Amino acid sequence: MKGLILSGGTGSRLQPLTHTLPKQLIPIANRPVLCYIIDALQHAGIDEIGIIVSDKKELIKKKIEKEHLPGVKLTYIVQDAPLGLAHAVKTARPFLGKSDFVMVLGDNLFEEGLDKALKIFAEGRFDAVVFLIPVDEPQRFGVAEVKDGRIISLAEKPANPRSNLAIMGIYIFRETIFPAIDRISFSERGELEITDAIQQLINMGGRVAPYMFSGWWLDIGRPKDVLAANRMMLSSLSRKSKKGLFTERLSQNCFVTPSSLISGSILQGPLIIGENCRVADSYIGPFTSIGNGSFVEGSALEGSILLENVSIRRVEGIILNSIVGEETEISGRDSLQNGMKSKTFLLGAKSRIYL
Ligand code: DAU
Repeated sequence: MKGLILSGGTGSRLQPLTHTLPKQLIPIANRPVLCYIIDALQHAGIDEIGIIVSDKKELIKKKIEKEHLPGVKLTYIVQDAPLGLAHAVKTARPFLGKSDFVMVLGDNLFEEGLDKALKIFAEGRFDAVVFLIPVDEPQRFGVAEVKDGRIISLAEKPANPRSNLAIMGIYIFRETIFPAIDRISFSERGELEITDAIQQLINMGGRVAPYMFSGWWLDIGRPKDVLAANRMMLSSLSRKSKKGLFTERLSQNCFVTPSSLISGSILQGPLIIGENCRVADSYIGPFTSIGNGSFVEGSALEGSILLENVSIRRVEGIILNSIVGEETEISGRDSLQNGMKSKTFLLGAKSRIYL
């Protein structure tokens, strides 16, 4: 059994962060999303993993190599253009060979393990197992129709969904998926859809089982999803589960790396502070992640994510539910222009400020 993680695509709803960082590298509790997926695959006994990447291959490789991922063998597979999930599988065919494989979309975060679904796949000798979860707005997702323990139809983001069962972004396949992909054509949005390929597999007589997922699951497509994922991950952090990566210090839920210096500050977890940070005379509230090399002075933060090397000094009020990109500087200063408090910005394309 091999693993395939899809980390190509554009991530336009997360601009400006995704101008410099593919969304699959966005840190959740200070680790790229991709690392949690690799953990889940490894936990299910899958060590040979292919990662589909776009032109950002070197950046992804560099970031992932810095992480603590013992025993995993990663192969980076370049997809020339984001032509769809089925196109990505086709691109990975030389890597996958004749092996069965678990495919996970690189922007998926989930709680439950993969073991039960793998057992269903093996014992039922299915051609595919598709992870499903009930949702309120099925039209935002791929949707499956289930009858007598089998998936009988699928549609990608249908206007009139036939069920409330969303396709999550975790699939188990065997090589029978390749002839099905060969028979589909590009969808209206210009992609080779994996949903169409699975429908084709069913039409060709393939047996496809649903796996009803019961834990929490998030597709981190929008800023509010990233913050929610951070909240979930920080809530479930424990010294044991992080394989000794962090030192628990100060209080039960505050994970502070020993190389960071905290002074004159109130820390209220769950939170995480990365390497070589400085926090002085500040309040760091629950569900906050501070990336390596960041500096916070005389400020208050809560429910927020700072990426690496961020500097925040003397900001009035509380910085709440915010995501601050790498090497960003936010500095409060009391200067008056014609009797009014002035504000100065240097912002990149598609930045968002809520004053
Ligand atoms: O999140 C669940 C949904 O994911 C499913 O319900 C849908 O059936 C499925 O098609 C997919 O829809 P999205 O519109 O959310 O897919 P997105 O374009 O965001 O791509 C998902 C991941 O796959 C993301 O990590 C980028 C990567 N990708 C995407 C494309 C189009 C690739 O690696 N190559 C690609 O060509």
